[in-house]
Amino acid sequence: MRNRAIVLAACAFAWQAHAADAGTARVEAGRKIYAAQCAACHGVRGEGQPDWNALNAAGERPAPPHDASGHTWKHSDAMLYRIVAQGWRDPFNKTQRLTMPAFGQDLKPEEIRAVIDYLKTLWTPRQRAFQREESRGAPYPSDPERTPR
Ligand code: HEC
Repeated sequence: MRNRAIVLAACAFAWQAHAADAGTARVEAGRKIYAAQCAACHGVRGEGQPDWNALNAAGERPAPPHDASGHTWKHSDAMLYRIVAQGWRDPFNKTQRLTMPAFGQDLKPEEIRAVIDYLKTLWTPRQRAFQREESRGAPYPSDPERTPR
């Protein structure tokens, strides 16, 4: 009986360690994708472009920060996924093009989830908690790692 308890405890520990590794690997993958695909516009540290809150000379809103000074953290997982996959433009822009390019062709679903999970590491604990709450009813579309068991 005692042995069985030990084995169970060991299994639970191994499972937890595995889950933590998976989370870290995903964020690490996201960090690389961010550096290669997003940093040119959103800044190496997610600081955004200067004067991102106003229209530029072309009549377009520049790339906003993804760190704690921006508002990326106010969007649910579902919304962030949609923005990255399908692109986005500010409705007040004077041009019609998607200033935030669509990455749905270039990135796999798991890569889009990974890069968004990386962005979460740039937020404060309170911002993360807010965003987690926002995502409760609006999760990533089709996330095998988060489907309820
Ligand atoms: C060519 C420049 C460019 C690249 C590359 C780019 N973005 Fe953007 N992104 C923008 C611009 C500009 C906006 C603002 C659109 C608007 O609201 O007018 C934006 C907006 C966003 C938003 C919405 C932020 C908010 O607070 O509403 C997210 C999320 C985002 N980008 C994520 C990414 C990710 C992830 C990548 C890399 C996979 C990426 N972007 C690559 C230009 C870019």
